[in-house]
Amino acid sequence: MSQVIQQMNSTSPAHVKHVKLAAWVAEIAALTEPKDVMWCDGSKAEADQLFAQMVERGSMIKLNPAKRPNSYLALSDPSDVARVEDRTYVCTTDPDDAGPNNNWESPEKMKGLLKGLFKGCMRGRTMYVVPFSMGPIGSPIAHIGVELSDSPYVVVNMRVMTRMGREVLEQLGTDGEFVPCLHSVGAPITAETPDTKWPCNPNKYICHFPETREIWSFGSGYGGNALLGKKCFALRIASTMARDEGWLAEHMLILGVESPKGEKSYVAAAFPSACGKTNFAMLIPPTSLGGWKVTTVGDDIAWIKPGKDGQLYAINPEAGFFGVAPGTSEKTNFNAMATLKENIIFTNVALTDDGDVWWEGMTKVPPDHLIDWQGKDWTPADAKSGRKAAHPNARFTAPAEQCPSIDAEWQNPDGVPISAFIFGGRRSTTVPLVFEAFNWNYGVYMAATLGSETTAAATGAQGIVRRDPFAMLPFCGYHMGDYFNHWLRIGHQIKRAPRIFTVNWFRQDEDGNFMWPGFGENMRVLKWVVERCNGRANAEQTILGWTPKFSDLDWSGNEEVTEAQFNHLTAIDNLAWREELKLHAEWFEKLKSRMPRELNLKRELFELAFVD
Ligand code: GTP
Ligand code: SPV
Ligand code: MN
Repeated sequence: MSQVIQQMNSTSPAHVKHVKLAAWVAEIAALTEPKDVMWCDGSKAEADQLFAQMVERGSMIKLNPAKRPNSYLALSDPSDVARVEDRTYVCTTDPDDAGPNNNWESPEKMKGLLKGLFKGCMRGRTMYVVPFSMGPIGSPIAHIGVELSDSPYVVVNMRVMTRMGREVLEQLGTDGEFVPCLHSVGAPITAETPDTKWPCNPNKYICHFPETREIWSFGSGYGGNALLGKKCFALRIASTMARDEGWLAEHMLILGVESPKGEKSYVAAAFPSACGKTNFAMLIPPTSLGGWKVTTVGDDIAWIKPGKDGQLYAINPEAGFFGVAPGTSEKTNFNAMATLKENIIFTNVALTDDGDVWWEGMTKVPPDHLIDWQGKDWTPADAKSGRKAAHPNARFTAPAEQCPSIDAEWQNPDGVPISAFIFGGRRSTTVPLVFEAFNWNYGVYMAATLGSETTAAATGAQGIVRRDPFAMLPFCGYHMGDYFNHWLRIGHQIKRAPRIFTVNWFRQDEDGNFMWPGFGENMRVLKWVVERCNGRANAEQTILGWTPKFSDLDWSGNEEVTEAQFNHLTAIDNLAWREELKLHAEWFEKLKSRMPRELNLKRELFELAFVD
């Protein structure tokens, strides 16, 4: 086995040639006082050993290998189940640089506070050194990070979600650039405080220092709070890098669409957390549409840079999917279910009596008996009283390469060319099924005012409409007004800017039922989108943008949507939009200090247009 386990206070292993990295690791070890330091090589043997240790300690359950080979289940502490947005900070010298969209503290004060919290916080634990690349190693669009963490759960997840280990260290060489990402569950093991199955601390801080490109995360072991390559690096820190360097770091899936004639287009789409990115990225078109194919490049994050030809090229910086489990079934997402057959880490789903997993929506009829996500017995009678077997934000960690729909180019270091951007939120009213912006700036306006009903992906109230511009509200590492300016600027700098579309799969009728069948049927909308980009689909001009008439979509094989329903789905309700525009005004007012004038003017024009 090639892994290197080291005692504290000794120097780094012989193969570590990066002086700055070695010095930082030594400095953090001195601060956090772990019992030892382990430099991770990313090998399967190393992961197997960590899984075995976690199983022995009771913090992971090995699933039945006959049902779910090489797969594990972790059940978290009930207080640590999602991202904690109110504990997430962007620390800039000038508070206005972080903007009203972020919690702020001065770098100096926050560092002081964090140093106090991190002092001795890894006592009794191993500190893992996890070098990782966001994007294919060596890609001109990729960037490297190193996470120091006292959580073996984080290590095995990072191994799936990123390119991790020895090869990254080699790529770093003696002086390569990396983003230092420090993480602790904040639960030192002492005589008075023994280890627990899911160590964490009620006092959580997820902190970003964009000016020095650093991340410090304390107290949580869950998802985006702890897998620091994901939201902390690939979105909050990377969005500031992108602003400074002229590219885009976005909360977007990337998919390929192939027509029956073999023409290929790529589309990137931003939907807020738990609003269907994974589903859309893995969509299986209805066969009645005649040979259209969708392939998956990524399901959560896109890094997009202008290429030499002036077009935008995107990579998926991740190597795995950290997807929402509840609601995933063979019917809603066949490709995800196929991806989940083996080598999976499940978190907060339910355990079946035969050592497999289950969650709400996986099958119509639940098993007769389960162990729920809190480790308690569960029977279908509990469903009647509203007790869920899986936590609503339960997730799977799955290698992207196992996905049957994975795109042939998903690891292309130069990325894939983007033809269209799609933005969509969860809106039960007001927002039509689909429309296309008149031009780039209109598209930026629509994305800047995107609203969505909140979901279980973040702790806090659910089902309330909040503005979630570009689906980036919790993830933009700087002032949202500056971010809008950045998007406007990019559109003017590139050639053949992608067209911009808005979608809403979630419009409801008076009885609260979804009016659009969604899932695979979304292909009808996606086909219209790519045909618009290729200049082949019709639309009519409305106040909001170019909107399809019923006859502009391909309805082959459709048995669900009538023309009347479609008209209802695409209706523009003047009264509702006048109310909506008031919310846009309130939202822009909050961003006043850095709001692009262009977007304020566009809002006023809309206001005039909606007066009848
Ligand atoms: P994050 O990983 O949190 O960023 O979210 P995501 O956007 O990848 O979320 P995901 O695809 O896992 O969204 C899951 C939720 O969206 C489930 O509640 C699904 O039922 C719902 N969903 C996905 N696609 C559709 C659709 O076309 N129509 C409807 N009505 N619901 C959908
Ligand atoms: C999201 O909340 O948008 C996620 C999950 O993709 S997490 O990685 O926890 O942020
Ligand atoms: Mn996400």
